[in-house]
Amino acid sequence: MERTRPSGPRKNLLLGSATDLIASPLEFLKDTASYGDVASFRLGPFRAYLVRAAEDVNEVLVKQGDVFTRDPIMRYASGKFLGNGIINSEGNFHRDQRRMMQPAFHHKRLEGYVELMVNQTDRMIKQWESLDDIPVNSEIAALTLKIVCEALFKSDITDDVANVIEAVHYFEEVLAVELRHPVPIPDWLPIPRKQRLRKGVALLHEVISEMIGDRRASAVDKGDVLSTLLLATSEDGSPMPEEQMIDEMTTTVIAGHETSATVITWILYLMGLYPEINTRVVNELDSVLAGRAPQMSDLPQLKYLDCVIKETLRLFPPGWLIGRTPKEDLTIGGYTIKKGQLIYMSPYITQRDSRYFEEPDAFKPDRWLDGFESTLPKGAYFPFSNGFHVCIGQQFALMEIKLIVARLLQHFQFERTQSEPIEPVALVTLCPDKTLHVRAMERVFA
Ligand code: HEM
Repeated sequence: MERTRPSGPRKNLLLGSATDLIASPLEFLKDTASYGDVASFRLGPFRAYLVRAAEDVNEVLVKQGDVFTRDPIMRYASGKFLGNGIINSEGNFHRDQRRMMQPAFHHKRLEGYVELMVNQTDRMIKQWESLDDIPVNSEIAALTLKIVCEALFKSDITDDVANVIEAVHYFEEVLAVELRHPVPIPDWLPIPRKQRLRKGVALLHEVISEMIGDRRASAVDKGDVLSTLLLATSEDGSPMPEEQMIDEMTTTVIAGHETSATVITWILYLMGLYPEINTRVVNELDSVLAGRAPQMSDLPQLKYLDCVIKETLRLFPPGWLIGRTPKEDLTIGGYTIKKGQLIYMSPYITQRDSRYFEEPDAFKPDRWLDGFESTLPKGAYFPFSNGFHVCIGQQFALMEIKLIVARLLQHFQFERTQSEPIEPVALVTLCPDKTLHVRAMERVFA
């Protein structure tokens, strides 16, 4: 039965709830979700809905996925950096771009990335051996950035890491405000944030254009994403415009490093909070690997580490808000949602719902043992989203996180050098609100 508009927070006449969603997103989402499985609020001129129940999330992302596009506010804001890359494109164009990128993420190709992921991690481990204090967040972000560029573009980005990280920082600063701001804020405004945005775009595009230029000059098909983009032609035989190539590569670099890096940082933080869980992971690593570097065939045997990763992605999903807008009127959770209105789904909210997860706020990796995942209703756990825009890098990320955490815990016993709790803060990804500082003591494999 269809019902009238669901209830929800009523706020500022002009901007609606935009200021709350920008100022304290997680509190706003928790408050809004308390109104019911579908709650309604206003973002400036837009009517928006937060959809909480697993069944409704699955309806929006999968069952009726073809009736939705990504939401216009997010597309507009992230488009400043990501242009028309696959995360922002739709329809046939999106399908074709995705199909072109897909081979880089096939199982066979992933196997080829294991060695470079382990080697890059081992290089970082060597440097950590001589550090008294390790700022984990930035170290791991630099590592995953190098890995994504080496794996997908066969490019060594070591000399440009600082520039790219600086650019991503500017991007995040702008998006933290504009990703949820209903009224477009012109980019030409002479305010410092906009100046930094322009600087960030220029820095990132320079690094990426250089990768493209180097590959063109070498004229070698390396069989990676970069060569695929260079060799791609449209139906009339014309090559992909350089601008589109830059958009696809920027999207992959941005979507593909910060996300994995925050998960790894959260895991290392949680291992410090729960030493008994850390010991179980380490015992598993020692018994499966006996001190040697992991290979692809070892990964399925690291079952408890798998549970730790799943549980971390449940509590701290980097993609904490997913937005869509319907192309026609439809019904979700018994309510009519009109064409052009906004629907938000939050893995952070649904994955902490006690209907699906007992003691939902507790870190309990053991819940994932014995096939728990297959008992969950569809839409209850979706850290990589689902449907047309489901994360293309899901398997890449899971493998990378497992390899890096395994290698680090094989080598080191970590000790935190400060004691204040770390809380999640919802920027572009769900990040730790502080830098995790640790001391790394070498472990002796018994
Ligand atoms: C733990 C790590 C990761 C998480 C949690 C994550 C999460 C997500 C989510 C939630 C989306 C979908 C957004 C939506 O539905 O609107 C997405 C899309 C995407 N992700 Fe990931 N991601 C991760 C790692 C990666 C990696 C390693 C890569 C590449 C190497 C990558 C590349 C992409 C791309 C290209 C898209 C856009 C797909 C499309 O629109 O068709 N991600 N990711």
